[in-house]
Amino acid sequence: MQYFIDSANAAVIAALCRDFPVAGVTTNPTIIAREKGDFRTVLLAVRKAVGDRLLHAQVTAETAEGMCADARDLRALAGEPFAVKIPVTREGLRAIPMLKAEGFTVTATAVFSPTQAMLAAEAGADYAAPYINRFDTVCGDGIRLVNDIALLYAQNGYATKILAASFKNAMQIAEVMAAGAQSVTLAPDLFDGMLSHPMTDLAMDAFRRDWAGVYGDASVQDLLRE
Ligand code: E4P
Repeated sequence: MQYFIDSANAAVIAALCRDFPVAGVTTNPTIIAREKGDFRTVLLAVRKAVGDRLLHAQVTAETAEGMCADARDLRALAGEPFAVKIPVTREGLRAIPMLKAEGFTVTATAVFSPTQAMLAAEAGADYAAPYINRFDTVCGDGIRLVNDIALLYAQNGYATKILAASFKNAMQIAEVMAAGAQSVTLAPDLFDGMLSHPMTDLAMDAFRRDWAGVYGDASVQDLLRE
């Protein structure tokens, strides 16, 4: 399972990369714009924070040729390892094989149907990104979508990975992982949401209390080195 940070905030990315087993970062035009900075500066700060993990950036051009030009310039600025995000429009579908021929890692994004995911895979995308919460919001079933895509990819022998995106809680993340997603991209606060559990906190409290009842303030180090 690969975990990506869905953010362009360098400080937040650096902190999460320090503590969690992170595969990289995903951005999109909305996420970049949220930083309200000079675009080059924002992207370079993200690269510095994410280090040699995979950095995704999205094109804004809407023709295949324009997408390829955006991809080249984004990769030249951001450096490798780099993945270009291409929306699953008709022009996007045309751009994917062109970008693969130039050696790009390609993520087909804004996927809301199994047919879009299938077309992206046949065109050669390395990742396909279904948007779970946005789909659920309009009475779709994001988990079922991932399940269907996973089944279809397996049936057709596609190597395209499912990069599930757009979550509002840890339960959705657990469900897409069980449904067959090989990677997820998460808003920063969801990393703690995946990890924290009140029963873990209670267990920690009991460990501290029981230990202190016998050994007081002494630590393992204190006792082994005395
Ligand atoms: C992924 O590529 C998208 O940027 C993202 O996951 C969308 O998430 P949102 O619906 O929380 O904005």
